[in-house]
Amino acid sequence: MAKMWAGRFSKEVDETVNAFNSSISFDGRMYRQDIRGSIAHATMLSDCGIIPKGDAEQIIAGLKGILADLDSGDLLMDPTAEDIHMFVEAELTKRIGDAGKRLHTARSRNDQVALDIRLYLRDEIAEIRKLLLALLNTLVKLAEQHTETIMPGYTHLQRAQPVTFAHHILAYVWMLLRDDGRLADTAKRMNLCPLGAGALAGTTYPINRKQTAELLGFSGPVQNSLDAVSDRDFCVELANALSLLMTHLSRFSEEIILWCSWEFKFVELDDAYATGSSIMPQKKNPDVTELIRGKTGRVIGDLTTLLTMLKGLPLAYNKDMQEDKEAIFDAIDQAKLCLKTFDPMLATMRVLKENMRAAAAKGFINATDCADYLVKKGLPFRDAYKITGTLVAECISQNLTLETLPLEKYQAACPLFAEDVYEAIALETCLNGRISEGGPSAEAVAQQLRAAKAAIEEIRL
Ligand code: ARG
Repeated sequence: MAKMWAGRFSKEVDETVNAFNSSISFDGRMYRQDIRGSIAHATMLSDCGIIPKGDAEQIIAGLKGILADLDSGDLLMDPTAEDIHMFVEAELTKRIGDAGKRLHTARSRNDQVALDIRLYLRDEIAEIRKLLLALLNTLVKLAEQHTETIMPGYTHLQRAQPVTFAHHILAYVWMLLRDDGRLADTAKRMNLCPLGAGALAGTTYPINRKQTAELLGFSGPVQNSLDAVSDRDFCVELANALSLLMTHLSRFSEEIILWCSWEFKFVELDDAYATGSSIMPQKKNPDVTELIRGKTGRVIGDLTTLLTMLKGLPLAYNKDMQEDKEAIFDAIDQAKLCLKTFDPMLATMRVLKENMRAAAAKGFINATDCADYLVKKGLPFRDAYKITGTLVAECISQNLTLETLPLEKYQAACPLFAEDVYEAIALETCLNGRISEGGPSAEAVAQQLRAAKAAIEEIRL
Protein backbone atom coordinates (compact mmCIF):
# COMPACT_ATOMS: atom_id res chain seq x y z
CA MET A 1 0.00 0.00 0.00
CA ALA A 2 1.33 3.45 -0.91
CA LYS A 3 2.51 5.51 2.06
CA MET A 4 0.53 8.61 2.98
CA TRP A 5 3.70 10.23 4.20
CA ALA A 6 5.61 9.41 0.98
CA GLY A 7 6.12 13.13 0.12
CA ARG A 8 9.16 13.60 2.31
CA PHE A 9 10.85 10.42 1.15
CA SER A 10 12.83 9.72 -1.98
CA LYS A 11 12.72 5.93 -1.72
CA GLU A 12 10.22 3.21 -0.90
CA VAL A 13 10.51 1.73 2.57
CA ASP A 14 12.42 -1.52 2.66
CA GLU A 15 10.02 -4.46 2.58
CA THR A 16 11.35 -6.00 5.75
CA VAL A 17 11.03 -2.69 7.57
CA ASN A 18 7.53 -2.30 6.23
CA ALA A 19 6.51 -5.68 7.56
CA PHE A 20 8.34 -5.02 10.82
CA ASN A 21 6.60 -1.68 11.25
CA SER A 22 3.13 -2.79 10.31
CA SER A 23 0.58 -3.36 13.05
CA ILE A 24 -2.50 -4.11 10.98
CA SER A 25 -2.28 -7.82 11.70
CA PHE A 26 -3.16 -7.06 15.31
CA ASP A 27 -4.70 -3.57 15.39
CA GLY A 28 -7.10 -4.56 12.60
CA ARG A 29 -9.39 -5.89 15.31
CA MET A 30 -10.12 -2.28 16.33
CA TYR A 31 -11.67 -1.36 12.99
CA ARG A 32 -15.12 -0.74 14.43
CA GLN A 33 -13.74 1.60 17.06
CA ASP A 34 -11.52 3.32 14.50
CA ILE A 35 -14.49 4.00 12.24
CA ARG A 36 -16.69 5.08 15.10
CA GLY A 37 -14.01 7.56 16.18
CA SER A 38 -13.63 8.89 12.66
CA ILE A 39 -17.36 9.42 12.30
CA ALA A 40 -17.41 11.45 15.52
CA HIS A 41 -14.34 13.40 14.41
CA ALA A 42 -15.84 14.21 10.99
CA THR A 43 -19.12 15.27 12.60
CA MET A 44 -17.28 17.63 14.92
CA LEU A 45 -15.09 19.05 12.13
CA SER A 46 -18.17 19.88 10.12
CA ASP A 47 -20.11 21.31 13.10
CA CYS A 48 -17.14 23.56 13.86
CA GLY A 49 -16.97 24.71 10.25
CA ILE A 50 -13.53 23.16 9.72
CA ILE A 51 -14.60 20.97 6.81
CA PRO A 52 -17.63 21.45 4.52
CA LYS A 53 -20.81 19.77 5.65
CA GLY A 54 -21.15 17.95 2.31
CA ASP A 55 -17.70 16.45 2.71
CA ALA A 56 -18.50 15.29 6.22
CA GLU A 57 -21.65 13.62 4.95
CA GLN A 58 -19.67 11.81 2.28
CA ILE A 59 -17.03 10.80 4.82
CA ILE A 60 -19.61 9.42 7.21
CA ALA A 61 -21.48 7.54 4.51
CA GLY A 62 -18.19 6.20 3.18
CA LEU A 63 -17.06 5.07 6.62
CA LYS A 64 -20.37 3.35 7.24
CA GLY A 65 -19.95 1.52 3.93
CA ILE A 66 -16.46 0.40 4.90
CA LEU A 67 -17.75 -0.78 8.27
CA ALA A 68 -20.51 -2.81 6.65
CA ASP A 69 -18.10 -4.33 4.12
CA LEU A 70 -15.53 -5.24 6.76
CA ASP A 71 -18.29 -6.76 8.91
CA SER A 72 -19.63 -8.82 6.02
CA GLY A 73 -16.20 -9.84 4.77
CA ASP A 74 -16.71 -8.11 1.40
CA LEU A 75 -13.72 -5.93 2.18
CA LEU A 76 -10.51 -7.56 3.33
CA MET A 77 -7.78 -5.72 5.20
CA ASP A 78 -4.64 -5.08 3.21
CA PRO A 79 -1.90 -6.87 5.12
CA THR A 80 0.71 -4.47 3.74
CA ALA A 81 -1.06 -1.44 5.20
CA GLU A 82 0.87 0.22 8.01
CA ASP A 83 -1.99 0.06 10.46
CA ILE A 84 -5.76 0.07 10.72
CA HIS A 85 -5.91 3.88 10.73
CA MET A 86 -4.03 4.18 7.44
CA PHE A 87 -6.01 1.36 5.91
CA VAL A 88 -9.43 2.86 6.68
CA GLU A 89 -8.41 6.32 5.55
CA ALA A 90 -6.91 5.05 2.29
CA GLU A 91 -9.97 2.92 1.59
CA LEU A 92 -12.21 5.90 2.28
CA THR A 93 -10.30 8.10 -0.15
CA LYS A 94 -10.39 5.32 -2.71
CA ARG A 95 -14.16 5.24 -2.35
CA ILE A 96 -15.12 8.92 -2.08
CA GLY A 97 -12.14 10.83 -3.47
CA ASP A 98 -11.07 14.25 -2.20
CA ALA A 99 -13.54 14.48 0.69
CA GLY A 100 -11.80 11.48 2.23
CA LYS A 101 -8.56 13.41 2.31
CA ARG A 102 -10.12 15.94 4.68
CA LEU A 103 -10.86 13.41 7.44
CA HIS A 104 -7.44 13.61 9.04
CA THR A 105 -7.65 17.40 9.53
CA ALA A 106 -6.83 18.34 13.15
CA ARG A 107 -5.99 14.76 14.02
CA SER A 108 -2.95 12.55 14.31
CA ARG A 109 -2.67 8.81 14.48
CA ASN A 110 -1.35 9.39 17.96
CA ASP A 111 -4.63 10.65 19.35
CA GLN A 112 -6.49 8.32 17.02
CA VAL A 113 -4.80 5.18 18.31
CA ALA A 114 -5.11 6.31 21.92
CA LEU A 115 -8.82 6.73 21.25
CA ASP A 116 -9.27 3.40 19.50
CA ILE A 117 -7.64 1.44 22.29
CA ARG A 118 -9.75 3.13 24.93
CA LEU A 119 -12.93 2.45 22.99
CA TYR A 120 -11.89 -1.12 22.35
CA LEU A 121 -10.92 -1.84 25.94
CA ARG A 122 -14.08 -0.22 27.23
CA ASP A 123 -16.13 -2.67 25.16
CA GLU A 124 -13.98 -5.61 26.18
CA ILE A 125 -14.17 -4.78 29.87
CA ALA A 126 -17.96 -4.85 29.60
CA GLU A 127 -17.70 -8.25 27.92
CA ILE A 128 -15.36 -9.64 30.57
CA ARG A 129 -17.53 -8.32 33.38
CA LYS A 130 -20.52 -10.09 31.85
CA LEU A 131 -18.63 -13.39 31.87
CA LEU A 132 -17.45 -12.74 35.40
CA LEU A 133 -20.99 -12.07 36.55
CA ALA A 134 -22.12 -15.38 35.07
CA LEU A 135 -19.33 -17.14 36.95
CA LEU A 136 -20.29 -15.40 40.19
CA ASN A 137 -23.86 -16.60 39.79
CA THR A 138 -22.68 -20.15 39.18
CA LEU A 139 -20.57 -20.00 42.32
CA VAL A 140 -23.40 -18.68 44.45
CA LYS A 141 -25.62 -21.48 43.21
CA LEU A 142 -22.94 -24.00 44.06
CA ALA A 143 -22.50 -22.49 47.52
CA GLU A 144 -26.25 -22.61 48.15
CA GLN A 145 -26.25 -26.35 47.46
CA HIS A 146 -23.44 -27.01 49.90
CA THR A 147 -24.10 -25.09 53.06
CA GLU A 148 -24.10 -28.41 54.92
CA THR A 149 -21.26 -30.11 53.08
CA ILE A 150 -18.52 -30.37 55.68
CA MET A 151 -14.95 -30.40 54.43
CA PRO A 152 -11.58 -29.85 56.04
CA GLY A 153 -10.22 -26.33 55.85
CA TYR A 154 -6.46 -26.29 55.28
CA THR A 155 -3.39 -24.34 56.22
CA HIS A 156 -0.06 -25.46 54.78
CA LEU A 157 -2.21 -27.96 52.87
CA GLN A 158 -2.61 -29.76 56.20
CA ARG A 159 -6.08 -30.39 57.53
CA ALA A 160 -6.74 -27.60 59.99
CA GLN A 161 -10.32 -26.82 61.03
CA PRO A 162 -13.73 -27.71 59.65
CA VAL A 163 -15.47 -25.52 57.08
CA THR A 164 -18.20 -26.18 54.55
CA PHE A 165 -17.85 -26.35 50.80
CA ALA A 166 -20.19 -23.33 50.64
CA HIS A 167 -17.83 -21.34 52.83
CA HIS A 168 -14.86 -22.33 50.70
CA ILE A 169 -16.61 -21.39 47.46
CA LEU A 170 -17.77 -18.08 48.91
CA ALA A 171 -14.16 -17.13 49.59
CA TYR A 172 -13.68 -17.07 45.82
CA VAL A 173 -16.92 -15.16 45.33
CA TRP A 174 -15.51 -12.29 47.37
CA MET A 175 -12.21 -12.36 45.49
CA LEU A 176 -14.00 -12.26 42.17
CA LEU A 177 -16.28 -9.48 43.36
CA ARG A 178 -13.19 -7.40 44.06
CA ASP A 179 -11.92 -8.28 40.58
CA ASP A 180 -15.15 -6.98 39.15
CA GLY A 181 -14.76 -3.80 41.17
CA ARG A 182 -11.25 -3.32 39.80
CA LEU A 183 -12.47 -3.83 36.23
CA ALA A 184 -15.30 -1.35 36.72
CA ASP A 185 -12.92 1.12 38.25
CA THR A 186 -10.45 0.73 35.39
CA ALA A 187 -13.19 1.31 32.83
CA LYS A 188 -14.34 4.39 34.68
CA ARG A 189 -10.87 5.92 34.94
CA MET A 190 -10.05 5.27 31.29
CA ASN A 191 -13.30 6.78 30.10
CA LEU A 192 -11.80 10.08 28.96
CA CYS A 193 -11.37 11.06 25.32
CA PRO A 194 -7.87 11.72 23.93
CA LEU A 195 -9.15 12.92 20.56
CA GLY A 196 -8.06 16.47 19.78
CA ALA A 197 -4.68 16.04 21.43
CA GLY A 198 -3.29 15.73 17.91
CA ALA A 199 0.22 14.42 17.55
CA LEU A 200 1.14 15.80 20.99
CA ALA A 201 0.43 19.53 21.14
CA GLY A 202 -3.21 19.93 20.20
CA THR A 203 -4.17 21.87 17.09
CA THR A 204 -4.66 25.37 15.74
CA TYR A 205 -8.10 24.46 14.37
CA PRO A 206 -11.11 25.58 16.42
CA ILE A 207 -12.11 22.03 17.34
CA ASN A 208 -14.66 21.05 19.97
CA ARG A 209 -13.21 18.30 22.15
CA LYS A 210 -16.24 18.17 24.39
CA GLN A 211 -18.40 17.27 21.43
CA THR A 212 -16.30 14.31 20.28
CA ALA A 213 -15.98 13.13 23.87
CA GLU A 214 -19.74 13.24 24.22
CA LEU A 215 -20.45 11.63 20.86
CA LEU A 216 -18.24 8.72 21.84
CA GLY A 217 -19.75 8.26 25.28
CA PHE A 218 -16.77 9.54 27.29
CA SER A 219 -17.20 11.46 30.48
CA GLY A 220 -15.01 14.25 29.07
CA PRO A 221 -11.75 15.00 27.23
CA VAL A 222 -8.31 14.11 28.61
CA GLN A 223 -7.02 17.38 30.06
CA ASN A 224 -3.43 17.37 28.81
CA SER A 225 -2.56 16.70 25.17
CA LEU A 226 0.84 15.15 26.00
CA ASP A 227 -0.70 12.87 28.58
CA ALA A 228 -3.51 11.97 26.19
CA VAL A 229 -1.17 10.50 23.57
CA SER A 230 1.62 9.15 25.70
CA ASP A 231 0.23 7.23 28.60
CA ARG A 232 -1.00 3.69 28.50
CA ASP A 233 -1.61 3.43 32.21
CA PHE A 234 -5.13 2.28 31.46
CA CYS A 235 -3.71 -0.75 29.64
CA VAL A 236 -1.50 -1.46 32.65
CA GLU A 237 -4.44 -1.10 35.02
CA LEU A 238 -6.51 -3.48 32.99
CA ALA A 239 -3.66 -5.98 32.67
CA ASN A 240 -3.25 -5.73 36.43
CA ALA A 241 -6.95 -6.31 37.08
CA LEU A 242 -6.83 -9.27 34.70
CA SER A 243 -3.66 -10.65 36.28
CA LEU A 244 -5.36 -10.65 39.67
CA LEU A 245 -8.50 -12.16 38.25
CA MET A 246 -6.40 -14.86 36.60
CA THR A 247 -4.44 -15.38 39.81
CA HIS A 248 -7.71 -16.06 41.62
CA LEU A 249 -8.87 -18.43 38.91
CA SER A 250 -5.46 -20.09 39.02
CA ARG A 251 -5.56 -20.72 42.77
CA PHE A 252 -9.06 -22.09 42.41
CA SER A 253 -7.86 -24.25 39.52
CA GLU A 254 -4.99 -25.56 41.58
CA GLU A 255 -7.46 -26.65 44.25
CA ILE A 256 -9.65 -28.36 41.70
CA ILE A 257 -6.60 -30.16 40.34
CA LEU A 258 -5.88 -31.41 43.85
CA TRP A 259 -9.51 -32.26 44.53
CA CYS A 260 -9.70 -34.34 41.34
CA SER A 261 -6.73 -36.45 42.34
CA TRP A 262 -7.21 -39.93 43.78
CA GLU A 263 -5.52 -38.62 46.92
CA PHE A 264 -8.40 -36.19 47.56
CA LYS A 265 -11.33 -37.27 45.39
CA PHE A 266 -13.46 -34.33 46.54
CA VAL A 267 -14.87 -33.59 43.09
CA GLU A 268 -15.28 -35.24 39.76
CA LEU A 269 -15.27 -33.25 36.56
CA ASP A 270 -17.88 -33.89 33.94
CA ASP A 271 -16.47 -35.91 31.03
CA ALA A 272 -17.05 -32.92 28.75
CA TYR A 273 -14.56 -30.90 30.79
CA ALA A 274 -11.79 -33.43 31.25
CA THR A 275 -9.38 -35.16 28.93
CA GLY A 276 -7.78 -38.56 28.62
CA SER A 277 -4.25 -39.75 28.12
CA SER A 278 -2.86 -41.11 24.87
CA ILE A 279 -1.17 -43.99 26.67
CA MET A 280 -2.68 -44.49 30.14
CA PRO A 281 -6.25 -45.76 29.79
CA GLN A 282 -7.18 -44.98 33.39
CA LYS A 283 -6.47 -41.26 33.18
CA LYS A 284 -9.00 -38.46 33.43
CA ASN A 285 -7.06 -35.24 33.48
CA PRO A 286 -8.15 -31.77 34.59
CA ASP A 287 -6.55 -30.05 31.59
CA VAL A 288 -8.86 -27.06 31.70
CA THR A 289 -7.75 -26.06 35.15
CA GLU A 290 -4.11 -26.71 34.34
CA LEU A 291 -4.38 -24.47 31.30
CA ILE A 292 -5.94 -21.72 33.39
CA ARG A 293 -3.05 -22.02 35.83
CA GLY A 294 -0.61 -21.90 32.91
CA LYS A 295 -2.29 -19.00 31.15
CA THR A 296 -2.14 -16.99 34.34
CA GLY A 297 1.62 -16.82 33.91
CA ARG A 298 1.06 -15.57 30.42
CA VAL A 299 -1.29 -12.78 31.50
CA ILE A 300 1.12 -11.72 34.24
CA GLY A 301 3.71 -11.67 31.46
CA ASP A 302 1.48 -9.30 29.48
CA LEU A 303 1.35 -6.97 32.47
CA THR A 304 5.13 -7.10 32.74
CA THR A 305 5.45 -6.39 29.01
CA LEU A 306 3.35 -3.27 29.34
CA LEU A 307 5.12 -1.89 32.37
CA THR A 308 8.53 -2.58 30.88
CA MET A 309 7.51 -1.08 27.55
CA LEU A 310 6.47 2.15 29.24
CA LYS A 311 9.05 2.65 31.93
CA GLY A 312 11.78 4.31 29.87
CA LEU A 313 9.73 6.28 27.37
CA PRO A 314 10.15 10.03 27.15
CA LEU A 315 7.01 12.03 26.36
CA ALA A 316 5.14 11.90 24.09
CA TYR A 317 4.40 9.15 21.54
CA ASN A 318 7.09 6.60 20.75
CA LYS A 319 6.70 3.67 18.43
CA ASP A 320 7.46 1.31 21.32
CA MET A 321 3.88 1.98 22.30
CA GLN A 322 2.61 -0.02 19.35
CA GLU A 323 3.65 -3.03 21.45
CA ASP A 324 0.85 -2.25 23.91
CA LYS A 325 -1.80 -3.87 21.79
CA GLU A 326 -0.61 -7.45 21.45
CA ALA A 327 0.01 -7.58 25.18
CA ILE A 328 -3.31 -6.19 26.33
CA PHE A 329 -5.26 -8.04 23.64
CA ASP A 330 -3.64 -11.27 24.70
CA ALA A 331 -4.50 -10.64 28.35
CA ILE A 332 -8.13 -10.00 27.36
CA ASP A 333 -8.35 -13.02 25.08
CA GLN A 334 -6.88 -15.38 27.62
CA ALA A 335 -9.02 -14.12 30.49
CA LYS A 336 -12.16 -14.45 28.38
CA LEU A 337 -11.28 -17.96 27.27
CA CYS A 338 -10.65 -18.99 30.85
CA LEU A 339 -13.90 -17.51 32.16
CA LYS A 340 -15.90 -19.11 29.36
CA THR A 341 -14.50 -22.55 30.13
CA PHE A 342 -14.23 -22.40 33.89
CA ASP A 343 -17.86 -21.47 34.45
CA PRO A 344 -19.55 -24.47 32.76
CA MET A 345 -16.83 -26.75 34.12
CA LEU A 346 -17.77 -25.75 37.68
CA ALA A 347 -21.47 -25.86 36.95
CA THR A 348 -21.21 -29.50 35.82
CA MET A 349 -18.65 -30.68 38.39
CA ARG A 350 -19.81 -33.41 40.78
CA VAL A 351 -19.09 -32.67 44.44
CA LEU A 352 -18.28 -35.85 46.36
CA LYS A 353 -19.65 -34.84 49.73
CA GLU A 354 -18.99 -38.17 51.44
CA ASN A 355 -15.30 -37.98 50.63
CA MET A 356 -15.10 -34.43 51.92
CA ARG A 357 -16.83 -35.50 55.08
CA ALA A 358 -14.56 -38.54 55.48
CA ALA A 359 -11.49 -36.34 55.09
CA ALA A 360 -12.89 -33.94 57.66
CA ALA A 361 -13.28 -36.82 60.10
CA LYS A 362 -9.57 -37.55 59.86
CA GLY A 363 -6.70 -35.22 60.54
CA PHE A 364 -7.78 -33.98 63.98
CA ILE A 365 -9.49 -30.88 62.64
CA ASN A 366 -11.43 -30.79 65.92
CA ALA A 367 -8.28 -30.49 68.06
CA THR A 368 -8.75 -26.73 68.53
CA ASP A 369 -12.29 -27.41 69.71
CA CYS A 370 -11.02 -30.05 72.13
CA ALA A 371 -8.68 -27.45 73.63
CA ASP A 372 -11.50 -24.88 73.68
CA TYR A 373 -13.61 -27.43 75.61
CA LEU A 374 -11.07 -27.33 78.44
CA VAL A 375 -10.86 -23.53 78.25
CA LYS A 376 -14.61 -23.35 78.72
CA LYS A 377 -14.12 -25.48 81.83
CA GLY A 378 -11.69 -22.91 83.22
CA LEU A 379 -8.25 -23.99 81.99
CA PRO A 380 -5.95 -21.37 80.42
CA PHE A 381 -5.75 -21.84 76.62
CA ARG A 382 -2.01 -22.65 76.58
CA ASP A 383 -2.45 -25.49 79.09
CA ALA A 384 -5.48 -26.79 77.22
CA TYR A 385 -3.50 -26.65 73.98
CA LYS A 386 -0.68 -28.68 75.48
CA ILE A 387 -2.94 -31.36 76.94
CA THR A 388 -4.78 -31.71 73.62
CA GLY A 389 -1.45 -32.04 71.85
CA THR A 390 -0.53 -35.02 74.00
CA LEU A 391 -3.95 -36.58 73.31
CA VAL A 392 -3.44 -36.16 69.56
CA ALA A 393 -0.02 -37.79 69.83
CA GLU A 394 -1.57 -40.66 71.76
CA CYS A 395 -4.30 -41.09 69.13
CA ILE A 396 -1.73 -41.13 66.34
CA SER A 397 0.37 -43.77 68.08
CA GLN A 398 -2.71 -45.97 68.63
CA ASN A 399 -4.31 -45.28 65.30
CA LEU A 400 -7.33 -43.62 66.94
CA THR A 401 -9.16 -40.32 66.45
CA LEU A 402 -10.24 -37.89 69.16
CA GLU A 403 -13.75 -39.21 68.60
CA THR A 404 -12.70 -42.81 69.33
CA LEU A 405 -10.25 -42.16 72.16
CA PRO A 406 -11.72 -43.69 75.37
CA LEU A 407 -12.86 -41.32 78.11
CA GLU A 408 -10.36 -42.79 80.62
CA LYS A 409 -7.54 -41.60 78.39
CA TYR A 410 -9.03 -38.12 78.31
CA GLN A 411 -9.46 -38.07 82.06
CA ALA A 412 -5.95 -39.38 82.62
CA ALA A 413 -4.68 -36.37 80.70
CA CYS A 414 -6.97 -33.92 82.50
CA PRO A 415 -9.72 -34.54 85.05
CA LEU A 416 -11.82 -31.72 83.57
CA PHE A 417 -12.80 -34.02 80.71
CA ALA A 418 -16.26 -35.58 80.99
CA GLU A 419 -18.61 -37.58 78.75
CA ASP A 420 -19.79 -34.38 77.04
CA VAL A 421 -16.38 -34.00 75.37
CA TYR A 422 -17.56 -36.26 72.54
CA GLU A 423 -20.46 -33.95 71.82
CA ALA A 424 -18.11 -30.94 71.97
CA ILE A 425 -15.71 -32.38 69.40
CA ALA A 426 -18.31 -33.77 67.02
CA LEU A 427 -17.74 -32.22 63.56
CA GLU A 428 -21.17 -30.59 63.46
CA THR A 429 -20.59 -29.00 66.84
CA CYS A 430 -17.18 -27.75 65.77
CA LEU A 431 -18.59 -26.30 62.60
CA ASN A 432 -21.76 -24.76 63.92
CA GLY A 433 -20.02 -23.35 66.93
CA ARG A 434 -18.04 -21.11 64.60
CA ILE A 435 -20.68 -18.43 64.65
CA SER A 436 -18.30 -15.47 64.44
CA GLU A 437 -19.14 -13.14 61.55
CA GLY A 438 -17.58 -14.43 58.35
CA GLY A 439 -17.15 -17.89 59.85
CA PRO A 440 -18.29 -21.25 58.49
CA SER A 441 -21.31 -22.01 60.74
CA ALA A 442 -24.57 -22.51 58.87
CA GLU A 443 -25.89 -19.30 60.38
CA ALA A 444 -22.83 -17.21 59.50
CA VAL A 445 -22.71 -18.64 55.98
CA ALA A 446 -26.39 -17.91 55.44
CA GLN A 447 -25.70 -14.30 56.32
CA GLN A 448 -22.62 -14.28 54.10
CA LEU A 449 -24.62 -15.69 51.21
CA ARG A 450 -27.18 -12.91 51.57
CA ALA A 451 -24.42 -10.31 51.54
CA ALA A 452 -22.73 -11.87 48.50
CA LYS A 453 -25.99 -11.99 46.60
CA ALA A 454 -26.71 -8.38 47.45
CA ALA A 455 -23.23 -7.39 46.23
CA ILE A 456 -23.82 -9.28 42.98
CA GLU A 457 -27.22 -7.62 42.57
CA GLU A 458 -25.51 -4.27 42.81
CA ILE A 459 -23.24 -4.92 39.84
CA ARG A 460 -24.10 -2.54 37.03
CA LEU A 461 -22.73 -3.52 33.65
N1 ARG B 1 0.17 1.81 14.74
C1 ARG B 1 0.53 2.84 15.62
C2 ARG B 1 0.42 2.36 17.07
O1 ARG B 1 -0.17 1.39 17.29
C3 ARG B 1 -0.36 4.03 15.45
C4 ARG B 1 0.28 5.32 15.83
C5 ARG B 1 1.33 5.65 14.91
N2 ARG B 1 1.87 6.95 15.16
C6 ARG B 1 3.07 7.32 14.68
N3 ARG B 1 3.45 8.49 14.99
N4 ARG B 1 3.81 6.51 13.99
O2 ARG B 1 0.97 2.93 17.98
